[in-house]
Amino acid sequence: MPALLPGVDLGKRATMNRGTWGSRFGFVVAAAGSAVGLGNIWKFPYITGVNGGGAFVLVYLACIALVGLPILIAEILLGRATQGSPVAAFRQLTRKGSPWVGTGWLGVAAGFVILSYYSVVAGWAIHYTFLALTNHFNEVGEAKAIAKIFTDLVGNPGLNIGYHGAFLVLTVAVVIGGVKAGIERWSRILMPFLGMILVGMLVYATGLDGFGRALGFVFGGRFSDLHAAGFLEALGHAFFTLSLGMGAMLTYGSYLPKETSIPKSALWVALLDTVIALLASMVIFPITFTHGIEPAAGPGLVFQSLPIAFSQMPAGYPLSILFFVLLVFAALTSAISLLEVVASTFIDVYGWTRRKATLSTGAVIFVCGIPSALSGGSFFGSGFAEFFWGKTFFDVMDYLSSNWMLPLGGLFVSLYSGYALKQETSVGEFGGAAAAPLHTVWRATVRYLAPAAVLMVMLKSSGILALLTGK
Ligand code: TRP
Repeated sequence: MPALLPGVDLGKRATMNRGTWGSRFGFVVAAAGSAVGLGNIWKFPYITGVNGGGAFVLVYLACIALVGLPILIAEILLGRATQGSPVAAFRQLTRKGSPWVGTGWLGVAAGFVILSYYSVVAGWAIHYTFLALTNHFNEVGEAKAIAKIFTDLVGNPGLNIGYHGAFLVLTVAVVIGGVKAGIERWSRILMPFLGMILVGMLVYATGLDGFGRALGFVFGGRFSDLHAAGFLEALGHAFFTLSLGMGAMLTYGSYLPKETSIPKSALWVALLDTVIALLASMVIFPITFTHGIEPAAGPGLVFQSLPIAFSQMPAGYPLSILFFVLLVFAALTSAISLLEVVASTFIDVYGWTRRKATLSTGAVIFVCGIPSALSGGSFFGSGFAEFFWGKTFFDVMDYLSSNWMLPLGGLFVSLYSGYALKQETSVGEFGGAAAAPLHTVWRATVRYLAPAAVLMVMLKSSGILALLTGK
C-alpha cells in the first residue's frame, strides 16, 4: 500500500463510513461524468464559434494538457491522501486555524453558486427535450418563431422555477444514493448512453454537406483569427470543463481506492472530456454550416440555431430528441458532482447523515437559484442589471464563480500541492519510486506553470491586464 499521509492521524476518518468507488472504471466514469457537461456540449462549441475556430481549439488543447491535467492530478491526489471533501481535506493537512482551510470553504461556496444557476440551464434542456418529443420545432417551422421559443422560455418565471426544481430533484435523488449505489451506478448507465448518442449523431453529421467545412473550421488553426482574449477564455474553460477549482475532483478522489493509479485515471478523464467536446463540435458545426447558420451565434447556438436546423432536416425529429436527452444526461452527471461537494462537506465536517445533508443543501440551493431562474423576465434580469454593470443575477453568479472562485481555488490547490504538501506524500500517491520522473514533471508544473497561467486569467478578469497592455 502506498504511504498514507505522514504524520497525520487518519484513524478517526478511516473508520468512518465513507464510500469508495467500485473500481477504477467506476471512478473514471463518475469523474468523466462530472467533467462532461453543459460545458462540453453547450459552451465549448459556441465559444469555439465566437473565437473563430481552429486556433482557439489548439490553444484550448494546450491548456487542458499543460494546466488542466496537472491540477486535476493535484485535486485527486489531495482527496485521496486525506480521504476527505475539501474542507475536511485541508483541516487534515494543516494546523488548526490555517488559512488553507479557506480554500475548502471557497470550493463549497463555488459548488453552491454554480449548481444554483447550472440547474436553470439544465432545466431549459429538459424543456427542450419535451418540445422535441412533441415535434414542436417541426410544427412551428419558421426560423424566427423557433428562435423566439427560447426568448419566451427564458422570460417565463413559472417554467424556469419549475424546471430548475425538477432538475434539482433528479440531482438530489442520485446523490442521496451515495457514492457507489448513486453516483457511480448512474454514471455507468448515463455516460455510455451519452457516448452512443454522440457517435450516432456524428455518423449522421458525416453525411452532411457542411461536414468538410466544419472539420476545417474546428481543426484548421488560423492564428490570425484568435485574439488575446481567446487565450484566456480557453484557459478559463479548461478549468470549467474539467470541473476544477472547487474540490469536485478532490472529493471524487477521496473515494478512490489506494491501489488505483492517479496519473492514469486523470489522463483518462481529461481525454474523455476532450474527445466529447470535440465530438460535440463535429456534430453541431456540420449541422449549422449545412443550414446556413452563423457558427458565432453565441449562447443561443444549441437552444436556438440547432432547433431551426432540426426543423429543416430529414430525421430531425428523432435527432432532436436524442440531442436534448444527451444534454440533460450530461448536465445531470455534472450537477451530481457539484451537489456531492456541498453535501459531503456537511457529512464530513458536521457528521450529518447523507440523507439530511443532501436534502437540506439541495433545498437551499433551490431557493438560492430562484433569482437565477427569474433572470430572464423579472427584477433579477434587467432591473438587477442596472445596478450590476449590465449583468443579470444569473450572469453575476456565472461570472463570480467561473472568473473568480474557480481560478482562485485552482491557484490555491496548485500552490498547496506544489509548495506546502510534503513531497513524500505526493510521491507516494503517484505510486512511489517507479513514478518519480513523472512526479518531478508534475511538481514543476503545479509550482510554476499552472499558477502563472491562472494568475494571467485573473489579471485579465479584473481588467488589470487591460490597464497594463493598454488594450
Ligand atoms: N465540468 C462541467 C461542465 O463542463 C461543470 C462542472 C461540474 C463543474 N462540476 C464542476 C465546473 C465543478 C467547475 C467545478 O459542464
